[in-house]
Amino acid sequence: MTANPYLEISGLTKSYGSGDIRTQVLKGIDASISKGEVCVLFGPSGSGKSTFLNLVGGLETVDGGSIVVNGQDITTLSGRDLVEYRRRELGFIFQFYNLVPDLTIRENIEVCRHLAKDPLPVDDLLNSLGLWEQRKKFPNQVSGGQQQRCSIGRALVKNPGLLLCDEPTGALDYKTSKEILALMERVNKRYGCTMVIVTHNDAIKHMSNHILRLRDGVLVEDEMNDSVIPAFEIEW
Ligand SMILES: Nc1ncnc2c1ncn2[C@@H]1O[C@H](COP(=O)(O)OP(=O)(O)O)[C@@H](O)[C@H]1O
Ligand SMILES: [Mg+2]
Repeated sequence: MTANPYLEISGLTKSYGSGDIRTQVLKGIDASISKGEVCVLFGPSGSGKSTFLNLVGGLETVDGGSIVVNGQDITTLSGRDLVEYRRRELGFIFQFYNLVPDLTIRENIEVCRHLAKDPLPVDDLLNSLGLWEQRKKFPNQVSGGQQQRCSIGRALVKNPGLLLCDEPTGALDYKTSKEILALMERVNKRYGCTMVIVTHNDAIKHMSNHILRLRDGVLVEDEMNDSVIPAFEIEW
């Protein structure tokens, strides 16, 4: 498949529960994602998208298979090594913003900086996220779109190699969703991080290099997209 994969997943399986009520959520996933790619993972609700992302993010343990990130099989890591992997390599963005309510926009980003070896400058990031004017406000004083920008800033300030995004526009209106997608596109170009975006918005495939589709725990589509369309030109 991909010549020099950044993320290489083989035979990935995961189930929940036990005995008769055991649910096989991922049924043997193989996927290969190159460095710098914007990869979109589609699938209906319950198909296993968040489970997939949480396994890649080291938030849950696999039943079987391997997840090689930047040359390291993270399924073999535990304890401090796993924490170190998450700190060094990963940024997470969720549908709900998970901001600290008592910290300003700037401070919300700043606190995540201390975890990283080679963090990005906060002022620069506030500017490229369009949050400079809002930097002294608290989360409840800014819009949903601005809160999501801030959570992107929190994920990004560590300068992660891999940005995992679970329904990042799920709570936003149409116009704001497009702004956030355009921002993620700029972030990908400017900072070069590899992105996996989970969504059920089919239109997002047009802005991505790589399209994966899950159905009932099985990967049913794995396509490269050679004619990427800028986020602002996509309509749905
Ligand atoms: N912690 C858990 N315990 C038990 N079942 C779970 C757990 N997490 C997810 N599931 C089940 O796994 C399936 C896939 O869930 P999920 O990965 O969240 O799907 P998606 O993100 O595509 O909507 C669902 O049937 C869900 O109920
Ligand atoms: Mg989900």
